[in-house]
Amino acid sequence: MKKFFALLLALVMILGLMAGCSKEEEKGPGENKYNLKTVKEGYLTVITSPDYAPYEFYAIDEKGNPHLAGFDMALAQYIADYLGLTLEVIPMDFNGIIGEMGTGKADLALAGLSPDPDRQEKMDFSDIYYDGKQAFITSKANAASFSDLASTNKAEFSIGAQSGTIQMELAEEFSPNADIISLVKATDIIAEVMSGKLHGAYVEWDVAVAYQANYPDLVIVCEVPYEAEGNVIGVAKGNADLLKYVNEALHKCVDDGDFAEFLAEALDLAAGENYQGILDEDGKVPTGE
Ligand code: ARG
Repeated sequence: MKKFFALLLALVMILGLMAGCSKEEEKGPGENKYNLKTVKEGYLTVITSPDYAPYEFYAIDEKGNPHLAGFDMALAQYIADYLGLTLEVIPMDFNGIIGEMGTGKADLALAGLSPDPDRQEKMDFSDIYYDGKQAFITSKANAASFSDLASTNKAEFSIGAQSGTIQMELAEEFSPNADIISLVKATDIIAEVMSGKLHGAYVEWDVAVAYQANYPDLVIVCEVPYEAEGNVIGVAKGNADLLKYVNEALHKCVDDGDFAEFLAEALDLAAGENYQGILDEDGKVPTGE
């Protein structure tokens, strides 16, 4: 019963938050408290790849409508409010995120980003806001094949990672002899691991844990070492004021305990009905998925 009320509260809070997101055009530009230069004046344009619970995904409400959810999305709203800007979120596949930041069409990227130094040509990084780590996963059916990272490095294995992510680099580093397959959506990777098409895959640890709620046969084999640990926000390159105030907002959000709440809500919603991927033109979950 207690859990039910907690869930209900989380749902009401997220729905309230999302109502704020989808009405941005009606809301008009924000007051722009710090006089920041952004892509669209008075707005905070954020790009994300919503295939990544608990970071970003669509929670489905009782009417069957999808709403952007996840702790990155709650954080995006928090930052927009802090800066006095109206939040505008643009969803895309992850392999478009880095390039898009390079073209200057977005102010921030909140997409469970790892601070890979190669990306610093295209964007600046906020301080680390979450201590995300990496995992190698498989299914119960294939679990006996893997004992540690070294056991993944065999030509007989097909091993997946999401296109454009640091997990691709990890696959090449630790499983170079395997057949490495890159797929556009994290969702597809998990589905193919579960169907046995892929023997295993590299994914963010918490994403694996979140998917376990819906796929109890998903097995986390081990943690995978990665030198640029943690998650950051990508900030438009050279916008020093934006970077400064984003960091200020981030620290306040973590220190005041709001971020911990966002995380708890995201985990609750990720365990419920959700969709991970890009919606169709009508803003609906694509059929046949
Ligand atoms: N942390 C990894 C990276 O930065 C993967 C991020 C994938 N994010 C997503 N929303 N699918 O490369």
